[in-house]
Amino acid sequence: MKSIIELNINGAKYDLLVSPNNTLLEVLRDKLGLMGTKRGCDLGACGACTVLINGEAYLSCIMLAVDAVGKEITTIEGLSSGELHPLQKAFAEEGALQCGFCTPGMIMTAQAVLQEEGNITEETVKKKMAGNLCRCTGYKKIVEAVMSVPGQEGKVS
Ligand code: FES
Ligand code: FES
Repeated sequence: MKSIIELNINGAKYDLLVSPNNTLLEVLRDKLGLMGTKRGCDLGACGACTVLINGEAYLSCIMLAVDAVGKEITTIEGLSSGELHPLQKAFAEEGALQCGFCTPGMIMTAQAVLQEEGNITEETVKKKMAGNLCRCTGYKKIVEAVMSVPGQEGKVS
C-alpha cells in the first residue's frame, strides 16, 4: 500500500507518495527528475547510483526510499550551489571522464572518502572507490583527479 513520506534531498523537503518497495533511486529519478544519479546495474554492483546519506556513500538502487526518511540525502545536483564542486572541477581538468555515466557516482563516493579520511592516499582512494565501476577511463585519471583536489596534492601512497 502506498504512503506519503517526507524526504530531505539536497536541503529541500519533499512529500512523496511511494510504495514500500520503491527504491531511493526510483524516487530520485522517476518521481523527482534528479537524473544525475544514474541507474546502471540496478543491483548494487556498479556504484553509478551512489548518493550521500548523512554524508556517507550509499547505493540508492538497493536502498528503500522509506529507509531514507529522516536522513539528509545529497545527490550530485546538491553537491554544490552555483560553481562546480572541487571534485567536479578536478574530474574535468584531469580528464577523468569520457562518457560520463559513472562520474556522478564516482564523485559522490569520492566526496564521502574525502570527508571520512583525514590522510588520504592513492591506496585509500583505490580501495574505497573499488565499488564504482568505469568502462571508459581505466581509473588512473579518476584516482589522479581525486588526489588533485585542494588539500590532497602531493600525498602519495
Ligand atoms: Fe546501483 Fe549499479 S545502479 S550499484
Ligand atoms: Fe564512461 Fe566511466 S567515463 S563509464
